[in-house]
Amino acid sequence: MADRKTLVAGNWKMNGRRDDGLALARAIAERATAQHTCELLVCPPATLIVPVGEVLAGSDVALGGQDCHAAASGAFTGSISAEMLRDAGCSHVIVGHSERRHGLGESDADIQAKALAARRAGLVAIVCVGETRAEREARVAISVVAAQLAGSVPEGAAADTLVIAYEPVWAIGTGLTPTNADITEMHAAIRGHIPAGTRILYGGSVNPKNAAEILALPEVDGALVGGASLKAEDFWAIARAAG
Ligand code: 13P
Repeated sequence: MADRKTLVAGNWKMNGRRDDGLALARAIAERATAQHTCELLVCPPATLIVPVGEVLAGSDVALGGQDCHAAASGAFTGSISAEMLRDAGCSHVIVGHSERRHGLGESDADIQAKALAARRAGLVAIVCVGETRAEREARVAISVVAAQLAGSVPEGAAADTLVIAYEPVWAIGTGLTPTNADITEMHAAIRGHIPAGTRILYGGSVNPKNAAEILALPEVDGALVGGASLKAEDFWAIARAAG
């Protein structure tokens, strides 16, 4: 939709050492000087946020964190606050990724607190939601996602500081994707629970082959890309498909 600029975001997850991470960032920044019409974002692991930010400086590729703590600072060993991400050059942070909801037991309330922290720090929160395979098979996917949204999107959220990523758990890293009809149905349902104009990304096995079709769906405002974001040519092919 014209008023919701497409966002293509790469979630590098726990991948990349200095050499390959910086080479990837360089390759993306170089390609991003060519004409493209979507917004681009990369979310490297915490160890690479600062050097990747240096590589991306002057390009229009934005930088994001993959998670943040709800507190601004304090005795939370191993954690990073939204303020620290902002200080390191980030404009965005992913919260509530399924690898944290399901893998690390984060609750909707935890995720809402992180999304609030993002707002406090001046970051755009990318709030992830999505059903498991069992929930889809039980035909409760839409109600599960509605409950995640109700619990994890903060009161007073606004379209310029919130992005939703619909990532079906069973589609992440599996090569499986929902049908176009299922994506459209879910995104339309999500839209009923979020502020007008908020972008909804699709994530889960997006690759250069399926990107154009998924990104052309009327309710899809971009993609959150995992595995394919680790290869510059694949990430760029997805970005081009968005343009
Ligand atoms: P894949 O693109 O590897 O399926 O991962 C999606 C994802 O989890 C992005 O956050």
